[in-house]
Amino acid sequence: MVTEIQRVGVIGAGQMGSGIAEVSARAGLDVVLTDVSDEAAEAGRSRIRKSLDRAVQNQKIGEADRDAAQERIRTTTSLNELHDRELVIEAIAENEEVKTKVFAELDQVIDDPEAILASNTSSIPIAKLAAATKRPDRVIGIHFFNPVPVLKLVELIPSLLTSEQTTQRAADFATGRLGKETVRAQDRAGFVVNALLVPYLLSAIRMVEGGFATAEDVDNGMVLGCAHPMGPLRLSDMVGLDTIKAVADSMYAEYKDPSYAAPPLLQRMVDAKLLGKKSGKGFYEYG
Ligand code: CAA
Ligand code: NAD
Repeated sequence: MVTEIQRVGVIGAGQMGSGIAEVSARAGLDVVLTDVSDEAAEAGRSRIRKSLDRAVQNQKIGEADRDAAQERIRTTTSLNELHDRELVIEAIAENEEVKTKVFAELDQVIDDPEAILASNTSSIPIAKLAAATKRPDRVIGIHFFNPVPVLKLVELIPSLLTSEQTTQRAADFATGRLGKETVRAQDRAGFVVNALLVPYLLSAIRMVEGGFATAEDVDNGMVLGCAHPMGPLRLSDMVGLDTIKAVADSMYAEYKDPSYAAPPLLQRMVDAKLLGKKSGKGFYEYG
């Protein structure tokens, strides 16, 4: 008998992991959030606190709900503390080698044979992560969008080996529990949304690189001319230029299509640690 998911683990307390931990705790689930250092875990906690405070200010939740959600989240630097989780969502940097290693370790740590191991990867094929475990039928992509508390979508990406029961449980978690909307995508690099979005972001970077228009003018063009909530360069800064570069590389490796090739400017900005909002500077500066 498979029970309803109550105990969730999240690996990586960065912008996505903290968002996933927050929405899970707000939905009443017990959450353990891990990162590699106390500093990173604490940064995740403070991001969650800020976001919950914002939800209180916007009258989406009351103060008691905020405090209860915070109390449902425990942070740790030990992967072993995820042992009793029924669902673990990995949200560490977009790096296939590091993610594969974490999936192999996680597989050893989890007690429940029915537990689901999920990745929030933006682009890495799920089958590659599943192959690092002895339970490929219980590995799936559960892909959230940034900012997690605001955007409604979750992409579900079963691999060729994911069981229908796993996909159904992941769908119940995302819709029934978190109140998100889902779309299902095949296990191809970039899935649905990033396969469409990232070539657009790369085209905008090429426009700036070629001196065709300034970042501000490209962004204003798309905000004022197409009613996008933010322009492609500000959005790239928000996502993280390291993440955009990694996603482009995965898709280029899969499809060999030049529209997925990272432009040299993007590569140089990542080399220079100009990663966007998270490093304080990208196409724009952040205070
Ligand atoms: N955390 C929590 N809540 C947030 C938030 C955050 N980081 N940022 C904004 N919000 C909330 C605000 O509290 C506000 O809520 P109310 O409606 O209740 O007032 C609402 O979102 C709107 O915020 P603001 O008025 O401050 O700002 P805005 O209207 O400019 O919206 C935005 C900000 C939500 C980020 C909006 O600009 C937006 O949706 N941008 C596009 C984001 C997008 O495209 N994301 C997808 C990225 S790609 C991806 O995620 C996949 C991948 O694999 C890379
Ligand atoms: P981020 O850089 O904000 O955070 C990554 C976190 O993972 C950091 O805190 C880091 O210390 C931690 N970490 C790294 N290795 C770890 C390990 N072995 N164990 C535990 N923690 C580890 O990154 P992010 O933007 O939150 O992205 C995380 C994942 O989510 C990536 O796969 C990315 O592609 C995906 N994603 C990102 C976005 C986005 O807009 N940024 C949207 C959807 C999906």
